[in-house]
Amino acid sequence: MSVPTESGRNRPWGAGFNRDFEWNRLNPDTYLEKNYLIPHSNDLEFLARVRDFFGGALRGRRGLHGVDVGTGANLYPALAMLPFCGRLELLDYSMTNVTWLRQETQEYAVTWDPFWKVLAEAPDHAALARPREEMRRRARPDVGSVFRLPAARWDVGTLFFVAESISGSTAEFETAVRRFIRALKPGAPFAAAFMENSRGWKVGSQEFPAVAVDADDVRAALSDVEEPDVHRLDSGPDPVRPGYTGMILVCGRKAGSRA
Ligand SMILES: C[S@@+](CC[C@H](N)C(=O)[O-])C[C@H]1O[C@@H](n2cnc3c(N)ncnc32)[C@H](O)[C@@H]1O
Repeated sequence: MSVPTESGRNRPWGAGFNRDFEWNRLNPDTYLEKNYLIPHSNDLEFLARVRDFFGGALRGRRGLHGVDVGTGANLYPALAMLPFCGRLELLDYSMTNVTWLRQETQEYAVTWDPFWKVLAEAPDHAALARPREEMRRRARPDVGSVFRLPAARWDVGTLFFVAESISGSTAEFETAVRRFIRALKPGAPFAAAFMENSRGWKVGSQEFPAVAVDADDVRAALSDVEEPDVHRLDSGPDPVRPGYTGMILVCGRKAGSRA
């Protein structure tokens, strides 16, 4: 299969560099419908793990500066950080996604209620009586690239299905992971998720790239991280889409002690 790019070159689906793809053509409504309208059990399991990890790592902390990189049409990583953050930056390279996020964070849809229900099993989340209002107040959607993040800016961060899903280049996958970690302050907890052995993905007729990674590749890309906990789930009998074998979640802390 080949896909024409803005620069007019052709390449197989799944290959190409980040800059070769038309990210503004990514339709957030179609993406949401395909991935999150019906919550997938793997996402809910990852969410429960991230909830417990942040609950332990950030117990009692409030007013932090958080970031979700490559947010797209997925609010669940942001919801996981919400109780701890006074300011939550939602960065995406696609202006279409940022426009969607600016709208969605004003009064997020009932789509996210099953995700909040999982989070609200923990005391930090349960204590947040009006998550919609807090999302509106705290979220700051903006255009940004994982490759151009400032160093040591954020107290907590998430990177969900981004590093392996924005390029067909292994070098760009590794750079994306490294830049995300570099953007965190010393000691900052983070959660990052990856599709395993992805062959690329589609939204409507628009095709997007991937690097086929497994848990060892993810571990190898993680430097400057303390004791990462890596958890893998099989795609199972009910995959989100064809063309991947599972999902990988890493919870850990940027090396160094926090100020
Ligand atoms: C597979 S989607 C993941 C979206 C969302 N985080 C999720 O969990 O479903 C990859 C996202 O990365 C965004 N993206 C592409 N290139 C990027 C870059 N250089 N920096 C940050 N985000 C990027 C895309 O616009 C898209 O929203």
